[in-house]
Amino acid sequence: MKIVTTVAELRSHTQPWRTRAGVTAFVPTMGNLHAGHLKLVRHARAMAERVVVSIFVNPLQFGQNEDYRRYPVTQERDISLLADVDADLLFMPELSEMYADTPGHTTQVVPPPGLNAILEGEFRPGHFNGVTTIVAKLFNMLQPDIAVFGEKDFQQLLIVRCMVSDLNMPIAIEAVETVREADGLAMSSRNSYLSAAERVIAPHLYQTLLDVRDLLLRGEQNSAAVEQAAMEQLLASGFQPQYVSIRRCADLGVPVAENDERVVLAAAMLGETRLIDNVKVSIT
Ligand code: PAJ
Repeated sequence: MKIVTTVAELRSHTQPWRTRAGVTAFVPTMGNLHAGHLKLVRHARAMAERVVVSIFVNPLQFGQNEDYRRYPVTQERDISLLADVDADLLFMPELSEMYADTPGHTTQVVPPPGLNAILEGEFRPGHFNGVTTIVAKLFNMLQPDIAVFGEKDFQQLLIVRCMVSDLNMPIAIEAVETVREADGLAMSSRNSYLSAAERVIAPHLYQTLLDVRDLLLRGEQNSAAVEQAAMEQLLASGFQPQYVSIRRCADLGVPVAENDERVVLAAAMLGETRLIDNVKVSIT
């Protein structure tokens, strides 16, 4: 696996690919890789002749009081994991390579308000501007045919799909199902912040979402009551819930038709750690 740190090196390494047949797939990450990330890379590997992974902790998508400064960095381990899953190229830029000026003072890509201001966007203002800006930059640097994202960050996945469509980027966005620990907790780099006691409580987030799904599958119609009960369940388990919301899968709008495919999304603080998760609800 080749490792590059500058845009110039990335371009010179990938330039010869353009004249040859074959698909290039891209997996953007912030590192501290776990089995969820690796599933994305394996998915990319199965679809493409060339697999590129990036590791960059993007300050622009972190709020003032968030964990940018303590975000876990595990470079050596990440490199060996990526070599094991047979990635071809790893792009690991420094901050100055990605932002010539103070992040936020540069041109930004802003998702439409209907997707940007709700759910995660309500509790993390500016977060998705940071995500779409960095993803657009990475897409422009590499110009992949395919890019792979996890359903763990369901709203991010839809926002990236929307950006690619709105800005006419010729990139197919692939989604991969959430990878979980044996007890159901969605894998996340942030799980390492949890104390032993919090780690025992953490799987209740997924359990609560499964309970909501069961109620909906049994025909429960009162979404607001179900959401409220789930918030109370999380509070009783020891979380500080931020939202539990039943939305349409396609666009995160409020479901109206009974046969809308739905997704239940939640965010909750567990001590100092913010956890998110979601489950899809298929009626068919
Ligand atoms: P990061 O949190 O490192 O996640 C990188 C990719 O891995 C995302 O597409 C995310 O949805 C996926 N992922 C994380 N945990 C997962 C799990 N348990 N199962 C399946 N996929 C999982 O998301 C970001 O980085 C950043 O916002 C980024 C897109 C790189 C832009 O900075």
